[in-house]
Amino acid sequence: MKSKIDELMELKKQRNAIILAHYYQDPSIQDLADFMGDSLALAQAAKKTDADVILFCGVHFMAETAKILNPTKTVVIPDMNAGCSLADSCPPEQLKEWIDQNPGHTVISYINCNSGVKALSDIICTSSNALKIVASVPESTPIIFAPDKFLGSYINRKTGRNMKLWNGSCQVHIDFSEQEVINLCAQNPNAEVLAHPECPENILDYADFIGSTTAIIDHAVKSDKNEFIILTEPGVIHEMQKKAPEKKYIPVPSMSGCSCNNCPHMRLNTIDKMIDALKTLQPEILMDEDIRQKALIPLERMLELSK
Ligand code: 13P
Ligand code: SF4
Repeated sequence: MKSKIDELMELKKQRNAIILAHYYQDPSIQDLADFMGDSLALAQAAKKTDADVILFCGVHFMAETAKILNPTKTVVIPDMNAGCSLADSCPPEQLKEWIDQNPGHTVISYINCNSGVKALSDIICTSSNALKIVASVPESTPIIFAPDKFLGSYINRKTGRNMKLWNGSCQVHIDFSEQEVINLCAQNPNAEVLAHPECPENILDYADFIGSTTAIIDHAVKSDKNEFIILTEPGVIHEMQKKAPEKKYIPVPSMSGCSCNNCPHMRLNTIDKMIDALKTLQPEILMDEDIRQKALIPLERMLELSK
């Protein structure tokens, strides 16, 4: 009998498809991907592929970004309900009102937002290029930043800027227990603490290193330390274990009492749903062409500045 993995690989060949996956996917999905990356690397990979179909194993805003960059390709996602609390916190109509209340401001949006928000933005950033993107805006130009208030306040602290911040947050990164971080640091005094900038300031205060998922993984692999406390979605640990299996990686539990802190949206994707998506080319990412063209402009600006 054909295994599920054989079936998926056959379909991938028939469809001339590429599988792009984020590091927060279940390890079984990560192992099947043609390309893994953080949000920036996935956008860059989506732009450059010559496959006909992109099977995007991540959340909706990531697959939508691939479609904005690649309108002639079919972009499918295993589960259309794989959303994001940050993207959901910022409906385009409300952002438009905020922009109108702040004339003369440059609008920088974190890539974790929907296409309507991108279409209203001057430039997009990701966690890996946010400091560079903000630095590209003259000091004298005021900025409004959406939707992640924690990434925004991290950038404000690092750069001395005073960007106005949308009140959005990631439900995963806001939920790390500070007490657990304190306990784990006490129990593992030699461990380095690695954090994603979506964490609140009281959690980032414990971090020895702050960066995107790719930056966190690369740091753990290259570091001369052997133990790491991980303040981001624990999916990243799979790649760390592959690249540096001799080291110890310690996930931090959430405040809601879970032993892990998985992103419930990312984890909706499964191998069965990947097979269905390649069989049926559904659910497909589609969007209004006018919005797509407007959203492309700030995304292209970001990609140009990230070269
Ligand atoms: P990265 O761009 O760092 O991979 O982050 C994506 C994300 O959704 C973090 O929650
Ligand atoms: Fe969105 Fe947070 Fe999940 Fe990332 S981890 S996709 S920011 S809800």
